[in-house]
Amino acid sequence: MNNSWTPKVSESFALVNIGSLVTNDPTLGDGLLGLIPDAAVVIDEGRIAWVGRSSDAPDASGAIDLEGRAVLPGFVDSHAHLVFAGDRADEFAARMSGEPYAAGGIRRTVAATRSATDEQLAANLHRLAAELRRSGVTTFETKSGYGLTTQDESRALRIASDVTGETTYLGAHVVPAEFEGRPDDYVSLVAGAMLDSCAPHAKWIDVFCDRGAFDVDQARTVLLAGIAAGLTPRLHANQLQHGGGVQLAVELDAASADHCTYLDDADIEALAGSTTVATLLPGAEFSTRSPYPDARRLLDAGATIALATDCNPGSSYTTSMALMVALAVRDMRMTPDEAVWSATQGGAKALRRNDIGRIFVGARADVISLNAPSHVHLAYRPGVDLIDRVWQSPPTPKVAA
Ligand code: NIG
Ligand code: FE
Repeated sequence: MNNSWTPKVSESFALVNIGSLVTNDPTLGDGLLGLIPDAAVVIDEGRIAWVGRSSDAPDASGAIDLEGRAVLPGFVDSHAHLVFAGDRADEFAARMSGEPYAAGGIRRTVAATRSATDEQLAANLHRLAAELRRSGVTTFETKSGYGLTTQDESRALRIASDVTGETTYLGAHVVPAEFEGRPDDYVSLVAGAMLDSCAPHAKWIDVFCDRGAFDVDQARTVLLAGIAAGLTPRLHANQLQHGGGVQLAVELDAASADHCTYLDDADIEALAGSTTVATLLPGAEFSTRSPYPDARRLLDAGATIALATDCNPGSSYTTSMALMVALAVRDMRMTPDEAVWSATQGGAKALRRNDIGRIFVGARADVISLNAPSHVHLAYRPGVDLIDRVWQSPPTPKVAA
């Protein structure tokens, strides 16, 4: 765990003697990551005020000597499910003995979440948010989806909007037990009264469009209702099997199609020709012992990739973006540069944000340093906590009062 922790930026200071700075701005430095060696960054009132070589840095009071460490934009975790109670370690153990992952396990977390008090849900959420910060995540998204009643979904989003402005309404996670055999009635609720009460607390709308959850027509109904209510779509697509989820995401200009584990040529072509980001979640493949998505083909076709944790108690109970980078490099044939870009700037693009994920003058001062000389060590030293310090701008304003 990092032993030095700066939770908020509220004054002017400089980071100097940075061994290698990832800016994600190719006009500022070398390659995809816009790398600057021997760099310095000046931060003023929570914003980046200057970036460049140490030798050119303006005189700044309060210089912090990074002693040759690597510095990066904070990780942007654009896909997580953090409002829940309980865990499903028994399902993980069973999977490791050969059981397949199935969407139905979500109902167990729904039962535990409905029984929890607001205080219990908030405490678990704050614990995970703190874990994400210690892992170098400076912006994260979180979804509802373990309440599945009007009251429980809006409660989840209200609690979530205390810790992030990136909140996603996922009433269409699975059909809850009380609607068994009546999925269309549940879809009507999700696209009707439940949406009305959740929309004020959400920025995004999502559907789990897959085997055991919702089909493409049901997903389209829910997403179109969400768009009409002012939300922007993103979609759980093609996690468990081939299907029309990715095509639907592109059709509706969703910000992201998430998982993308099973893609055919037409899916890859559609993503490459769109502004929909392919958000890959290797923690889910790791934890469900599934094949990893074909990141190499997506990149070679020209698609934009984000990496995210998918932190949830069923399919991926991790807050480690460094692990996502390592898996993407080792098992998905991304280069270390591509994986680090996707965990920072890729996440920002999946959230349609241009103030985070890069280090440029005017960006939010969301910056991390590593106990390592370069970002490559995130994959090269898997399982080692390399996060040294985290600087984070004051939080994004809430989406709703
Ligand atoms: O993204 N796929 C749907 N939702 C989660 C899993 C939720 C669960 O199993 O509790 C996911 O992997
Ligand atoms: Fe998910």
